[in-house]
Amino acid sequence: MVQKNYNVVAGFNLIAPAYDLANDAMTLGLHRLWRAKLCKTAADLAPQKGRILDVATGTGDVLLGILRLRGDLSLTGVDPSEGMLNVAREKLEKKARLFSDSLHIRTGDARRLPFADDSFDVVTISWGIRNVNPFQEGLREILRVLKKGGSIVILESGKPEFKPIGAAYKYYSKLLPFIGGKISGFMPAYRYYTETVDAFPSGAQFVGELFDCGFVKANYKTLGGSIVYLYTAQKPRD
Ligand SMILES: C[S@@+](CC[C@H](N)C(=O)[O-])C[C@H]1O[C@@H](n2cnc3c(N)ncnc32)[C@H](O)[C@@H]1O
Repeated sequence: MVQKNYNVVAGFNLIAPAYDLANDAMTLGLHRLWRAKLCKTAADLAPQKGRILDVATGTGDVLLGILRLRGDLSLTGVDPSEGMLNVAREKLEKKARLFSDSLHIRTGDARRLPFADDSFDVVTISWGIRNVNPFQEGLREILRVLKKGGSIVILESGKPEFKPIGAAYKYYSKLLPFIGGKISGFMPAYRYYTETVDAFPSGAQFVGELFDCGFVKANYKTLGGSIVYLYTAQKPRD
């Protein structure tokens, strides 16, 4: 049962300094490979000197991942958690200072993005859409800021489609709050994480939500034996 009064952004502010380490421990580093798939998909979809927006950018790893593949792009990350953005700013300063002109960080919520209509060629959102409530509001807002014919690329955890993995994942997901809680010192954030994965639509059901919100050509692939989903869709050209 998802905790109704849980303040998601305050939770991320608290766990921000330990967020990357906890992800490594909980996925044995696999989150890096899964996020790299999203970065490669987004980089392949972007036109020369295009603009990419990373919504729920958190500690900035999607921005860095895309930058490593495509130095010609303009990259903007947006997130409502100042704690997460502070970690992102420090990381980008250390690892990508030479690219500071093409990297931008903004504070903002997916439901009210601080950008004009038709601004971006590609929008990415990695393990973020599940935190946006209602997520359909975030998807429609992303559609608004995308250019016509532009693409959305979403990475998100979901209910495993492959039955044997589903049984193992059920036990593993009970352990996650303890691992994340131990590393970050704030277990409720990780309890919230496992509860929302169970409650959130995945696979064909989420693709249906993308169509309902106005996207076309929506599709998905599973990763990690179907515990992670990579969705792509487009804004209609007219
Ligand atoms: C699990 S983290 C993902 C961070 C990063 N994208 C990654 O791949 O590691 C989820 C992020 O969603 C952000 N978030 C929560 N509510 C949001 C909202 N309404 N709009 C945009 N981002 C939100 C949190 O602050 C947090 O940084």
